[in-house]
Amino acid sequence: MKNILIIGATGQIGSELTMKLRSLYPNGNVVAGYIPGAEPKGELKESGPSAIVNITNPQQIAEAVDKYDIDTIYNLAAVLSAVAEAKPQLAWNIGVGGLYNVLEVAREKNCAVFTPSSIGSFGPGTPKVLTPQDTIQRPNTIYGVTKVTGELLSDYYAKRFGVDTRSVRFPGLISYVTPPGGGTTDYAVDMYYSAVKGEKFYCPIKPGTFMDMMYMPDALRAAVEIMEADPKRLIHRNSFNIASMSFDPEMIFSKIKEYVPEFEMEYKPDPLRQSIADSWPDSLDDSCARYEWDWKPEYDLDGMTKDMLKNLCVKLKPMETYSI
Ligand code: SER
Repeated sequence: MKNILIIGATGQIGSELTMKLRSLYPNGNVVAGYIPGAEPKGELKESGPSAIVNITNPQQIAEAVDKYDIDTIYNLAAVLSAVAEAKPQLAWNIGVGGLYNVLEVAREKNCAVFTPSSIGSFGPGTPKVLTPQDTIQRPNTIYGVTKVTGELLSDYYAKRFGVDTRSVRFPGLISYVTPPGGGTTDYAVDMYYSAVKGEKFYCPIKPGTFMDMMYMPDALRAAVEIMEADPKRLIHRNSFNIASMSFDPEMIFSKIKEYVPEFEMEYKPDPLRQSIADSWPDSLDDSCARYEWDWKPEYDLDGMTKDMLKNLCVKLKPMETYSI
């Protein structure tokens, strides 16, 4: 990677990945692509170049690639699972139409492409526990349909045209920087915010519903390491299972209570998000990623909880509220 374009640079992953890439590569070589209405602000804006890049506009992608001599594109534009069910056409246009635009530009201009897939690419027929790398992928959400299509299309462009496409299947991502929007796993992020704000949390997901989750620093490292991996070692490309922890609402609630004893939670299941969560795996087997490019997570539930609460206290409230 020399010159990198991030599409969706002001979103949940993009805002942090852009800064991480700018810490690893010269700032001027990492371009923050955004859509009007979601302009970069503060450090994200000041620390490097940015460009309007709407993923549904192939011309804009091509112009940014030419202008900044881009050789690697991080395609992070997405509509998350619960919102996608309300807007399936938009989810397809961004997830599949947008990816097609990116792949075509990459084919013409010789760029490598990273497009995240997700635990949402699996469905009710997939083995639920330690879901294998290569297994049944018949999701029943539009989000999952776009993710499986994206995996197949990306592999096709690699095989047919030699485009260097690579990807990981992200679990639910947890971070204190940019809030996610409209995902099924986002209840876990919301729980931390409620705990730090001193509010009771109404949990939309039932106890006993396990999903894979990951702390953002591990996810960012995965996104960089897969693109830097030695291609000769890669047996898979689109997309690798990666994992670090699996929990249900009870487990994360108990963990937060260790540090915020007065925290309270009540279950108020949301039928849409519950049915999506029920169709996804409990936990993924990430042994192929470990073997092919040395993937290894650093955070477990306790490490993540301490870091989330500490940083959310700094963000939302005075430090002395908790003894973490
Ligand atoms: N975090 C995503 C969602 O819940 C899953 O990849 O939609």
